[in-house]
Amino acid sequence: MDKFYITTAIDYVNGAPHIGHAYEKILTDIIARHYSQRTDNMFFLTGTDEHGIKIQKTAASKGITPKQLCDENAQKFKDAWKALDIKYNRFIRTTDEDHEKIVQKIFQKLKDKGAIYKHEYEGWYCSGCECFLNPKDLTEDGLCPDHQKKPDIVREENYFFKLSAYKDAIIKHIKENPDFIVPSFRANEVLNQLEDIQDISVSRSKENVGWGIDILDDPNQSIYVWIDALSNYITAIGYDPDGSSEQFKSLWPVDVHVIGKDILKFHSIYWIGILMALELPLPKHIFAHGWITIDETKMSKSLGNVVSPTSVLENFELEYPDAFRYYMATSAPCGRDGNYSDEDFKEKVNAHLANSMGNLLNRTLSMLVKYFDGEVKDEFFVTKNPELVEGSLSLIKESIGKIKVVENHFNHFEIAEAAQEIISIVDAANKYVTDNAPWTLAKEEKMTECGQVLTTVLEVMCVISSLIYPYCPNIATEMAKQLSYDITKKLDEITTDEIKPGKLITKEEIKPVFLRVDSELADKSAKK
Ligand code: MSP
Repeated sequence: MDKFYITTAIDYVNGAPHIGHAYEKILTDIIARHYSQRTDNMFFLTGTDEHGIKIQKTAASKGITPKQLCDENAQKFKDAWKALDIKYNRFIRTTDEDHEKIVQKIFQKLKDKGAIYKHEYEGWYCSGCECFLNPKDLTEDGLCPDHQKKPDIVREENYFFKLSAYKDAIIKHIKENPDFIVPSFRANEVLNQLEDIQDISVSRSKENVGWGIDILDDPNQSIYVWIDALSNYITAIGYDPDGSSEQFKSLWPVDVHVIGKDILKFHSIYWIGILMALELPLPKHIFAHGWITIDETKMSKSLGNVVSPTSVLENFELEYPDAFRYYMATSAPCGRDGNYSDEDFKEKVNAHLANSMGNLLNRTLSMLVKYFDGEVKDEFFVTKNPELVEGSLSLIKESIGKIKVVENHFNHFEIAEAAQEIISIVDAANKYVTDNAPWTLAKEEKMTECGQVLTTVLEVMCVISSLIYPYCPNIATEMAKQLSYDITKKLDEITTDEIKPGKLITKEEIKPVFLRVDSELADKSAKK
């Protein structure tokens, strides 16, 4: 694999980040970190979407300028991603100067090509969606189905993008590329929406929406937010209609746009039409994840159940975000809705990360110190003594074999499914320890056998630490440290003998990699 380019949706900045925004960034970070284990040229883009009527209105209600609101809130997103160890390569803001300039050029190019034309229009505009709604999509009471608000009637002379001209080509592309939209069951929804697709308004009058990018030769109009926002995927890496950067040439087309299911139409129809008009290659995949509910209820300001991702870290007094990342990433199968609850969080991470995984390493290293003073002897290795303890060779082979299984899940953006495979190796290793009872072998003075059981488990732990790294980078790094294992290894470099013979560890160097999440803290958090 020569490169991997991945993006998230860019978040609106009219509030602080919540757990739903965090879910997407965590999934994306995990995919990005996984692909960093497969290529040296990985680029992860995220950012904030800062123009539009919604921001303008929120700023006005607070008595501050839109730019002040954007600066304040963009920082909250950056701080949250830092706390969650989201390791992006660029954080783009749609108010960044380089972005604004190129968006103007993109608009101009589309206009020069005749893909954009001016037209008098009247329609229902929902500022929550930042788009015109088709009257047939409104509820019986005439409300936006997503925002439960009456859209505004807007009568303006706007620029329109000839989306209908690309309709057949988009349909063909979706049908010919079954893995273009992930999960594939969403492709039918898109094909249905495409049936009555019309040209879309791509500008607003400056008078009504002042907070937007100006159209170069028409000062009375500003560029519609979605054209501005979607373009971030190419402006961020140096697209320029007059000659793009080397970085753009090496990264585009994007490997995957990670987005929520609610904005699939914009990405798989509008964006694809724009790219076709710009004559640029199309994204390889669009991965639409599901939505996160809180205690099985939709998050909303009016219900007062909006959970901030950093509050979870604070409530449970977590030193690292790993447990939260793991929990969120495994909360739903690919593309399905997930749920967050304090109680479930505590149970799952204690079971998987503390009891199964962390404890396995801790017990094994402690026995190595107790029986062998922390030393791994030559004769312990399965490669030297393959017949010594039944199941040793097959366990190591099984763990190495799982690397491809996990990679394959990632190829399909099945993050929770991949995690399940990783935990299944942990379970297999725990079973192997129980079956072979190294403490009994030691009592019976079968020391080579005992050493082989421990060494086999440590070998498997090297594989586990690499595979779990994208989900839990801090825990994995600590595990690798105690195993003297190089966590920066690429996945295809991992072998069956990563543990080096000789003194591995002292009693003082052993420490639990993950402390159980405290029940009392969970209760405190629930009360809050
Ligand atoms: N600004 C647009 C995206 C432009 S991308 C060129 C937008 N912003 S948003 O802030 O409303 O949403 C940002 C992302 O967060 C979207 O992918 C959206 O689906 C996701 N989520 C928002 N709430 C969510 C949940 N409750 N659960 C999971 N993801 C959710 O749309």
